[in-house]
Amino acid sequence: PLPKPFRVPLPIPPVKRPVRSDGTTDYYEIVQRPAEVEILPGLKTPIFGYDGIFPGPTLVTRSGRRTVVRHRNELPVPVVVHLHGGHTPADSDGFATDLVLPTSGWRPPRHMAHGGGAMLGDVSEGEREYVYPMNQRAATLWYHDHRMDFTGPQVYRGLAGMHLVRDDEEEALPLPDGDRDIPLMICDRAFEEDGAFRYPALDRKLYDTPGVLPDYMEGVLGDVILVNGAPWPVLEVEGARYRFRILNASNARRYRLALRPGPSEGAAFVQIGGDGGLLEAPREHDHLDIAPAERFDVVVDFSAYKPGTEVTMVNLLGEDSTTRVMRFRVGRRVRDHSRVPAKLSTIERLDPAKAVRTREWWFRRGRTGSHKGWTINDKTFDPRRMDARPKLGDIEIWRFVTDLHHPVHVHLDPFQVINRGGHAPGPFDAGWKDTVDVRPAEHVEVVVRFTDYRGPYMLHCHNLEHEDMAMMTNFETV
Ligand code: C2O
Ligand code: CU
Repeated sequence: PLPKPFRVPLPIPPVKRPVRSDGTTDYYEIVQRPAEVEILPGLKTPIFGYDGIFPGPTLVTRSGRRTVVRHRNELPVPVVVHLHGGHTPADSDGFATDLVLPTSGWRPPRHMAHGGGAMLGDVSEGEREYVYPMNQRAATLWYHDHRMDFTGPQVYRGLAGMHLVRDDEEEALPLPDGDRDIPLMICDRAFEEDGAFRYPALDRKLYDTPGVLPDYMEGVLGDVILVNGAPWPVLEVEGARYRFRILNASNARRYRLALRPGPSEGAAFVQIGGDGGLLEAPREHDHLDIAPAERFDVVVDFSAYKPGTEVTMVNLLGEDSTTRVMRFRVGRRVRDHSRVPAKLSTIERLDPAKAVRTREWWFRRGRTGSHKGWTINDKTFDPRRMDARPKLGDIEIWRFVTDLHHPVHVHLDPFQVINRGGHAPGPFDAGWKDTVDVRPAEHVEVVVRFTDYRGPYMLHCHNLEHEDMAMMTNFETV
């Protein structure tokens, strides 16, 4: 039986403290280890956790200050850490074969990739230091596992956490902050009777056979919605404005989030930011469409509700137990000095007329040879093959074309959506994005400019089962 909704208080993941800081840099240490946590009341769920918790601790770092995170791998499987949305040099970006091997014993078999025999990347023993220059604006990022072929099961087991970047520009704005600036990591999970996560991996040890049972080709969905790791939680709020940094950390589920009841006046959500930080101006939405890996930074004004109102965040794309997400219990009205200014930031427009080329990327089900998985430009993932060599500083147009729904993610630099299905960008495409939901048989054009760092980077579908079933490729910035 599923737990009753709206009983568990919303957990807020702890903010990680640096182990030391100097004039330029903050140093952090995270241990990845197995743990048992109580997600469903009275049951124990074995997880893989950053510091043994799920979600992992939240990192809060400053634009322009170097951040060094040492990850130690005490799990029984190899890992790779990627800072999603990070503007990161290639050797710290978590390339899918740059494995961090377990401290105890596991060594990779010779043939561990689709097609067999892929060369290993830059492998480290037991631990690895990831260096993030943080040469980027304030934004809501997240970090998660990125091990080749096994990202889906390893994130599902719990390897995901939030990473907030702050800067002076954002702090100068009168937005809700402190206790009223809250990350919401939303994901769905299925459970076994005993409380374990139910993930239909072909190889339950996540050793060397990637992939999921044939019924899950489209991606793994769960019937329990977790927010910050708790099933359908409840949050007591005051009658004031709150900032929610909403992340869809689900492997494959997309949501249409709305509030029931809606506010007596004004829009349910005032969007102030997206994947890559603040928008130029706020945008009002009565619902939010959010695909895996996307972030929406929104302000909700609970003073538009009578004290005592119970406001449910619902999922209009769900069915049965997945139609609801969490609940807010509105308390009395309080003094609130926050507001959402009409101008939030200035965003440099990348001019498509200045693009030096257009590249086309087809995301579709395998149609050639024996591969029954997913492909990009009819090819399966090969960590050694670079499918594009964009020049640093060039503006390019990238055109993504799909068969079914695919949330497309590009590493290194964010992009701007300029065209969705032959029309102007949609209501959820504003600002700098690093993940764009491309709907069935649609094409989306984005304008992108890679900067600062040379090297191999990944481009892939962020439906994690699609990604593991080879819907990933590489480009090398030159
Ligand atoms: Cu969120 Cu390539 O990943
Ligand atoms: Cu996909």
